[in-house]
Amino acid sequence: MTTRSLLLALLALVISTMSLSAQAEDPIVIKFSHVVAPDTPKGLGAEFFAKRAAERTNGRVKVEVYPNSTLYKDKEELEALQLGAVQMVAPSLAKFSLLGVREFELYDLPYIFDSYAELHKVTQGPIGKSLFRKLEPKGIVGLAYWDNGFKSFSANAPIFVPADLKGKKMRIQPSKVLEAQMLALDAIPRVMAFSEVYQALKIGVVDGTENPISNLYTQKMFEVQSHLTMTEHGYLGYVVIVDKKFWEALPADVRGQLDLAMKDATDYTNQIAKQQNDQDLESVRRSGKTRIHVPTPEQRRAFKKALIPVHQEMAPRIGEDLLQSVYSETGFDPGAL
Ligand code: LMR
Repeated sequence: MTTRSLLLALLALVISTMSLSAQAEDPIVIKFSHVVAPDTPKGLGAEFFAKRAAERTNGRVKVEVYPNSTLYKDKEELEALQLGAVQMVAPSLAKFSLLGVREFELYDLPYIFDSYAELHKVTQGPIGKSLFRKLEPKGIVGLAYWDNGFKSFSANAPIFVPADLKGKKMRIQPSKVLEAQMLALDAIPRVMAFSEVYQALKIGVVDGTENPISNLYTQKMFEVQSHLTMTEHGYLGYVVIVDKKFWEALPADVRGQLDLAMKDATDYTNQIAKQQNDQDLESVRRSGKTRIHVPTPEQRRAFKKALIPVHQEMAPRIGEDLLQSVYSETGFDPGAL
């Protein structure tokens, strides 16, 4: 070996050692922003993903989780994703029309799913996957559906029948289906960011809201809502989404491991979601601050009768074919009460 080639070999060794140590020192950072508390299905799922991602990539990826709207609120987090300020968010399905994708509002239709099992036929099946494809032209990749749970109405007055919500100002997420739902009850829908709801309830800007119990409890909304009725009239869940440019630029082996970490986190989240909500309902009950009412079968029928017509009203927005395919996947019969 000549001196020159020896020097070149040495140089190559130094460079590769430097880049290896840079790799060890500088992990790929994924900022994961969300709006709920850490001890909710989404909050726990995000932490679980962060842990698994680090394990599966041997520390090459560091997921930084920012809960409770600390970085961005509902609308801003979607803008931040598109601008590359964060790489991962998991908005609720009711917020996807902010991206110009209306079809996800099908999940907001009242009473469309009777159970997590029925819901999973859609989210974990071909329909769920086909909706992810609608995100690609927006520069977004859909990675997974994560559950929260079924929403119930709360207010500062008892709610037994649909007429009890007449004239009440009700906070909703930015979904036309949820707006139609409140109008069908003669309530007054008010779109508001999640982080503002507690205060709005407290000072009476709105009279009531709808939430899965984990959100009602962890945001302390129950402290400013005297009545909760377990209507369980609609579903609230998430899609974990990622910036497409960022995702596709990752080394293939890293992306593969992150896919596996996401699968682990999805199994975990969807397994704990119900138990988390059940546990939080118990905590609300024990607090003694909110009276909890379970509707009688007749009261439940009255809510269904008032709300199921929203499906047909919203079919042109969501897509008649899509709605029919969900009905046939779950066996939902819009005529049966
Ligand atoms: C809401 O705005 O009520 C929810 O979407 C919050 C969340 O992310 O669960």
